[in-house]
Amino acid sequence: MEEQREQPQGTKNDAQHGGRREREAGAPEPGRPDGNGNGKGNGNGHGHRQAMGPESVIVCRGVKKAFSGHKVLDGVDCEIPRGEITVIMGPSGTGKSVLLRHFVGLLMPDAGQVEVEGQSVPELNEEQLLALRRNMGMLFQDGALFSSMSLFDNVAFPLRQHTKKSEKEVREVVMERLKEVGLAGAEKKMPSELSGGMKKRAGFARALVLEPRILLFDEPDSGLDPVRTALLCELIKEIQRKYESTAVVISHDTKAVFEVADHVVLLHQGKVVDQGPKDRIKDSDKEFTQQFIKGAVKGPLAMD
Ligand SMILES: Nc1ncnc2c1ncn2[C@@H]1O[C@H](COP(=O)(O)OP(=O)(O)OP(=O)(O)O)[C@@H](O)[C@H]1O
Ligand SMILES: [Mg+2]
Repeated sequence: MEEQREQPQGTKNDAQHGGRREREAGAPEPGRPDGNGNGKGNGNGHGHRQAMGPESVIVCRGVKKAFSGHKVLDGVDCEIPRGEITVIMGPSGTGKSVLLRHFVGLLMPDAGQVEVEGQSVPELNEEQLLALRRNMGMLFQDGALFSSMSLFDNVAFPLRQHTKKSEKEVREVVMERLKEVGLAGAEKKMPSELSGGMKKRAGFARALVLEPRILLFDEPDSGLDPVRTALLCELIKEIQRKYESTAVVISHDTKAVFEVADHVVLLHQGKVVDQGPKDRIKDSDKEFTQQFIKGAVKGPLAMD
């Protein structure tokens, strides 16, 4: 099935692993950082450097994940600053999507910490996870539309599912979102009638419909031509600024996404090899960083 449910299968099983993970010594109790003004209440004596931005919405420390003995994440340390666009880059198969799924609790770490807005994700129960995900809009790699529903119903789905809005209110919100993503007038179309770019934008409208504080985009550029990619990136930036949300964009296309990035995390072989504000990353003296952002063919990064 190409359809992606709101909570993809595996959620429950994955969540059950949460109990296995033990809180690391000295780690803070889960709590909401809202209002503490610095988001740095996570200092845990692990020698981790201070948050790079004024406030980190997502913090990962030493995150490890293996599937049947195949190590994918091998101690990921990263921070996602509030109110900015962070781009996570890295070669194909390096664990970007796996990392993103940890942010929404669709996967749980074997070791390490994943905190979102001060809450330790692996320690949340099912109900708390649902509440967390309500504030996180996720655009899956293929748009993940329900193929049996019209565009309108696809975008309306989260509203009908999670709010008590009347159909009239639902209609207002849906039409507004479709307009924002340039799909006004296409609401009666079925997903099969949409182009790849339209599907992405439709998925985007659906991810936005609950006005989430955190937006997660898994390869919004894959399968799109450069012009459409650039347009979609512009749209991401426009919406992120408009709603003052925190956005995480995963990509291995460095050109278009680099344009929209405020902050960059570079992942390779299960580890973060470089991260920081875009301007610093641009000037990074690390060879693999330069190779990756310039898309050079030769260098220390093997495109495995
Ligand atoms: N649920 C799973 N079960 C087993 N292996 C998995 C699972 N999810 C991911 N993997 C493996 O983890 C590795 C990293 O996958 P991931 O999808 O995170 O890569 P990626 O960096 O997002 O790549 P791409 O840029 O191609 O999307 C791959 O080897 C993949 O086969
Ligand atoms: Mg991926």
